[in-house]
Amino acid sequence: MTTPAGIASILQEHRVFPPPADLASRLGGAVVGSMEDLRAMHRRALDDPEGFWGGLAREHLHWFTPFSKVLEWSCPDARWFVGGTTNACFNCVDRHVEAGHGDEVAILWEGEPVGAGGPEVRRLTYGDLQRETSRLANALASLGVRTGDVVTIYMGMVPEVVIAMLACARLGAAHSVIFGGFSAPAIVDRVNDAGSRVILTCDGAWRRGSVVPLKAHVDEACRSLPEVGQVIVLRRCGNEVSTTAGRDLDWHALVASQPDHRPCVPMDSEATLFLLYTSGSTGKPKGIVHSTAGYGLHVAFTARATFNLRPDRGQVFWCTADVGWITGHSYVVYGILPNRVPCLIYEGAPNFTREDRFWEIVARHRVTHFYTAPTAIRAFMKWGDAHPARHDLSSLMVLGSVGEPINPEAWMWYRERIGGGRCPIVDTFWQTETGGHVITPLPCATPTVPGSCTLPIPGIDAAVVDESGRELPPGRGGLLVIRRPWPGMLRGVRGDRQRFIDTYWSRVPGMYVAGDAARRDERGYFWILGRIDDVINVSGHRLGTAEVESALVAHEAVVEAAVVGMPHEIKGTGIAAFVTLGPGASPSEALKSNLREHVAREIGAIAKPDMIRFTGALPKTRSGKIMRRLLRDVAAGRESAQDVTTLEDFSVLSRLRESEEA
Ligand code: WT7
Repeated sequence: MTTPAGIASILQEHRVFPPPADLASRLGGAVVGSMEDLRAMHRRALDDPEGFWGGLAREHLHWFTPFSKVLEWSCPDARWFVGGTTNACFNCVDRHVEAGHGDEVAILWEGEPVGAGGPEVRRLTYGDLQRETSRLANALASLGVRTGDVVTIYMGMVPEVVIAMLACARLGAAHSVIFGGFSAPAIVDRVNDAGSRVILTCDGAWRRGSVVPLKAHVDEACRSLPEVGQVIVLRRCGNEVSTTAGRDLDWHALVASQPDHRPCVPMDSEATLFLLYTSGSTGKPKGIVHSTAGYGLHVAFTARATFNLRPDRGQVFWCTADVGWITGHSYVVYGILPNRVPCLIYEGAPNFTREDRFWEIVARHRVTHFYTAPTAIRAFMKWGDAHPARHDLSSLMVLGSVGEPINPEAWMWYRERIGGGRCPIVDTFWQTETGGHVITPLPCATPTVPGSCTLPIPGIDAAVVDESGRELPPGRGGLLVIRRPWPGMLRGVRGDRQRFIDTYWSRVPGMYVAGDAARRDERGYFWILGRIDDVINVSGHRLGTAEVESALVAHEAVVEAAVVGMPHEIKGTGIAAFVTLGPGASPSEALKSNLREHVAREIGAIAKPDMIRFTGALPKTRSGKIMRRLLRDVAAGRESAQDVTTLEDFSVLSRLRESEEA
């Protein structure tokens, strides 16, 4: 990757970037305006967590019934805002309508296709959202969806996907959104685990000028899902779809006849708002459970603090994540709408019709907040400076990064070429399980350092500890933990209590173990060093190596497979697969591409291996464990520093190195 002129020297200075002096006034006032305020807030939060979070809960959420107690904690079980009732859709939509803001824009949407008159743009107000979520909630209720059911949503990035999520919340049903890039078998696993009987989908989704046939994927999945009684299909792309009578319903026809009024159901604070499936160390994705009030508060509060959101100041917030991931749940929908700042949603690819589409959108809609992943930033760098330079990006005030460690080179490029040197970068560390941000700079308070996610959000007791839970001194790498409960924390893994305990709460008793290694520097800033489990972060998307392995061994030619992460210029981490073939199969380029397609069919395109090596045997210890660290070294082209005395067959290693690359 090339370094833009002048930036390499800056990197060697280890520069610290203080918040720009005029930022607070441009943002309409600082939410947290200085390090002193941030430290004081954090101290207050740790001294009196109930006072701190209780106060925020009253400020940020609407309560049908006030809570009587802030927290009941019996590790690992937290109950926040005990006895209270609230509704996530009400907090996002209805309260703004009731306060007289019904005509203000809530969602600003731009479609991918570009016609003669430019792309299609839709503006939905809070009033529109109230009517549309009511109609859809009425429709779902008429199909027998009840409070406590789980509705599966498998759609593209159209305004209706947000309406679908909020309609479920309105009704008190939980949703389970499946990313539109996942394939039919992935849908089957998730729908089965969630026990959904209703799926909301689209005919297709626009992606780089072509149509991803979502409905066809659902049809294929439904052949293995006898429990699914209804599939509601939104027409978006106009591609041909087959219709199963009695099961498939047309979205528009269904909602057209429904009344546009339906009150939000008061939900217990702890009622499940949604499930979101994410990858872990085993082959089976886990359904992370999030609560109504705690999650709702955490994301509304962190969205306001991390991005310094202010209503009525012309702010336009754009998070480029798909709602199929936690970033989309928290910072497209549930964190942004309560703050009454318009949320921009773009339907398609960043390089359609050209590599400057994002910058065209920023300029067209005067975007003030832009939030994306390092993998995208690295792609923009590669596409060249000319693309952002062609557009007026002067509306931007705060830039965000999320999903994976950001390399200082990409950080500097983002700051200079996109932010014009005037916008702070908030590098937000968090996870599907944390619900919202846990470690991040605040734009008007925290001096930033390229590559560090800096300091915990007030109230988050994050630390770097050794295996016994002892805090480590600056400079020492260890386990990233959170030592106290926080409102947005996961409430469990759907249907698997033991996995919840084993994964997060067993390694260091009494603490939440994030699964990342980290260290702190002399200022106390956190530096994330990477995952400590068999989870890899590909383009900011989490994948379990075991999932890819089981997809590979499901192929008839494959006997055994081991998958590890490897450095990748754009994706951050790429996927390397070491594959042992059965007697009937022989290595070939054709088989490699065949295996890649097979993985795409089993999981989705994001899981396609970047490199496949065929090998006669995999390196194993005497007890039969695959030596993954060694494979990681081979995949990265490093000489292995690892002790190989336990290798069962020494020659395997040298043969792996010799085996030809994909
Ligand atoms: C894992 C969580 C958070 C939403 C998107 C990903 C990595 C996330 C950062 C960051 C370094 C990061 C961690 C984490 N990660 N943000 N700012 N710096 N690493 O959510 O799919 O649940 O993945 O992403 O490894 O554990 P997720």
